[in-house]
Amino acid sequence: MFDVPYARSHFPALTEDWALFDHAGGSVPLAGVIERVHDYMSHWQVQLGATYRHSATAAALVAGGRSAMARLVNASPDEIVLGPSSTTNVRTLSRALLPLFSPGDEIVVTNLDHETNIGAWRALEAEGLVIREWRFDPERLELTLEELEPLLHQRTRLVCFTHCSNLIGTVHDAAAIIRRVHEAGALACVDGVACAPHRRVDVQALDADFYFLSIYKVFGPHLGLLYGKRDLLLRARGQNHFFIPEDEVPSKLEPGSVVHELTAALPAILEYLLALDERHHPGSPAPETARLDRVFEDIAAHETALVAPLLDFLRSHRGVRVLGRETADARRAPTVSFVAEGRDSSEIPARLDAERIAIRYGHFYAHRAVEALGLHACNGVVRVSMAHTNTTDEVGRLIAALDRAL
Ligand SMILES: Cc1ncc(COP(=O)(O)O)c(C=O)c1O
Repeated sequence: MFDVPYARSHFPALTEDWALFDHAGGSVPLAGVIERVHDYMSHWQVQLGATYRHSATAAALVAGGRSAMARLVNASPDEIVLGPSSTTNVRTLSRALLPLFSPGDEIVVTNLDHETNIGAWRALEAEGLVIREWRFDPERLELTLEELEPLLHQRTRLVCFTHCSNLIGTVHDAAAIIRRVHEAGALACVDGVACAPHRRVDVQALDADFYFLSIYKVFGPHLGLLYGKRDLLLRARGQNHFFIPEDEVPSKLEPGSVVHELTAALPAILEYLLALDERHHPGSPAPETARLDRVFEDIAAHETALVAPLLDFLRSHRGVRVLGRETADARRAPTVSFVAEGRDSSEIPARLDAERIAIRYGHFYAHRAVEALGLHACNGVVRVSMAHTNTTDEVGRLIAALDRAL
């Protein structure tokens, strides 16, 4: 049994009786994160890079945050770019990769992704790049290799796609997609934002060229993490001051440096996940990367059990259409969107507010997907997004409240 009370005890914001189901928007932070920000700002907030003791300690704390994120995704610290958000990181990356492309080269973007992994690449059309659109399968509402195949050409340089849709909750087989992209001689840039709170991200196992996630959705502070293979980061054009050397990775891609106090807090995320693993597998030592795999298997199993009754309820409700996979399994994150026949999606979350249940509606910046589904007219979808800190009781309350509201 997954120990939810133990998990929840690490989150100060989860002591209220509100049932939060908006975690795909942002998770609440760990106590350890809050404490470390407080500690850094109380004792160590001086400039980095000087010789005096405080400066050296501050630098070590900030470096520790980057190392923790590298361990989280199984990379090296110099492959981890930290920025204020994924949107900023991808914009920076798109400019930095220009020297790798020539006019007429092709970039594939999807119509399912959050706009972060579309707009920045589409903007390169102004630099002579050709943009191709990989449309999601209209029946399965997911990205398929069959739809990708005709878009892969000799001139395809980059394929940008989402590991898991933040709208529909389907987890794609990113490793298989990346394999095909590499066979075609292109690079892959994967949006892992909606996947990282629910599945282990191992960039080496995936063989991703670029992979990004938003740390504020993985129980941490408001930061974005961008992984890039070292040789690619070296070939990218620096976006920092002109005197920052091109071999200075990752700082050449971190204009203005990182947010020190938030970066210094990042080890708390790794510590929490390892403590959660120890709680469920006491005294069964394993290499850290295997323990992270294991804790995310436990998280996924708990979330799958949580989401199953919600899917059963929605499926059985006349006039309700669940988007994407209708059964709870390994390919489904606990992010469930639905529309109710004849209803504007904006009506439903407000009714649940009164019952202290937090869900929301909209397009969630997967604007093109909602357009393709023809759902802008009803204000997008109603989205319920869970985390491993949700309880069976909360899901019961949610289902009862939806039953009244639908
Ligand atoms: C799937 C996905 N990609 C990208 C983003 C953008 O992340 P950020 O807010 O860090 O820019 C989000 C944010 O909701 C998201 O859900």
